[in-house]
Amino acid sequence: MSVAEAGCSLAAPATYADEARLHAALTLLRREAPVHRVEAPGYTPFWAVTRHADIIDVERDHTLWLNAPRPVLRTAALDAALEARRARGGALATLVHLDGRRHRELRAVAADWFRPKAMRDLRARVRELAGRYVAVMAEHGGACDFARDVAAHYPLYVILSLLGLPESDFPRMLRLTQQLFGQDDADTGRGSGTPVDHTSVLEDLFAYFRDLTARRRATPTGDLASEIANARVDGRHLDDNTAASYYIIIATAGHDTTSSTIAGGLDALIRHPAELRRLRADPGLLAPAAEEMIRWVSPVKSFMRTASADTEVRGTPIGEGESVLLAYPSANRDEEVFPDAFRFDAGRDPNRHLAFGSGVHYCLGAALARMEIQELFAVLLPRLTRVEPDGEPAWTATTFVGGLKRLPIRYSLS
Ligand code: HEM
Repeated sequence: MSVAEAGCSLAAPATYADEARLHAALTLLRREAPVHRVEAPGYTPFWAVTRHADIIDVERDHTLWLNAPRPVLRTAALDAALEARRARGGALATLVHLDGRRHRELRAVAADWFRPKAMRDLRARVRELAGRYVAVMAEHGGACDFARDVAAHYPLYVILSLLGLPESDFPRMLRLTQQLFGQDDADTGRGSGTPVDHTSVLEDLFAYFRDLTARRRATPTGDLASEIANARVDGRHLDDNTAASYYIIIATAGHDTTSSTIAGGLDALIRHPAELRRLRADPGLLAPAAEEMIRWVSPVKSFMRTASADTEVRGTPIGEGESVLLAYPSANRDEEVFPDAFRFDAGRDPNRHLAFGSGVHYCLGAALARMEIQELFAVLLPRLTRVEPDGEPAWTATTFVGGLKRLPIRYSLS
């Protein structure tokens, strides 16, 4: 593949369903063209930034490099549809769409709910949910699709518990969040992956969360949803749109990311049996192993930043208004940072991966994600006496968030 083809492949959802092809493209770009201008059909041109050090440099300078107006890679048609929606006043305005003071103020609304103390309080509930999903595996009687039957559900249930949503609403939320992120994949999207599908999923989510805001203002219930509904910035409640956007970013960002890491983590252990044995023998390795799973899977494929002034990255001039794509899976295989980057090492230390980003937008839920992954494997591994593939795994076609959507396995649980 040529450098130009490698660049264009980053804008094709199908590339991310083929890990070997994805990493071949990223390795080539890191080596030959670490700051590469991509002109892919259907997309406004952008610069692909593939080296670890360059991504950190861009994210560090958050007054030069802004999230607005193009925080994620979308087709020019979808960008236009969302811009039109924004002009009408009904667009998502989440943390990832905001910069500067507004971003800081809004991030502070939920920040305490994700700090270590809050995580300690939540751990027992997370462990209980982890136990529930290991029980689901037992009910399947020795064979299941781990991605679909276990990994897709457990993180969403954790995050919806934190928000304080009733369990009866969980299936609906599962469908909507998968449709929002899985637009480009025939198995998860609502249909053809067009702007209309995307905005119709958003309509449904907005309607659900507007209603939730009203109910939590009427009767606060001590959960994160009540915190958001009743928060005041500059003395005023968040408007309906901002509150709904807040729930949506938490429900969506906290779901597919962690699900993909759990499924991809088990797949990595199956493919590296010595690492599985090592982890089963030494539960002290759970924390570094979870970190390695996050690096290995890198479920967030990219975020973007737009230059607010003429600048350069690694000596390449980039004009005001142009966007860079921060290729996290590439940073996490960067040979300059990770010795033996393509080896899954359950005890890797140090592990300075960028799967959670860096700087002021650093993943708000990182501590929660780590805990969820650790808790699931803490409950599962001591009981998992045998595990092997039971068919071909499959990855989501996406340019944003995804990972394994099918992982058929056979196993024995003690
Ligand atoms: C932001 C990755 C789990 C909530 C982000 C960003 C990345 C990321 C790459 C953007 C960072 C940047 O721009 O520098 C991940 C990964 C996860 C995960 C790999 C799991 C393995 C979660 C969970 C939550 C969450 C469980 C729970 C609420 C958020 C939020 C933001 C965010 C709210 C926006 C932060 C901001 O813009 O200030 N995440 N995430 N994430 N994540 Fe996560």
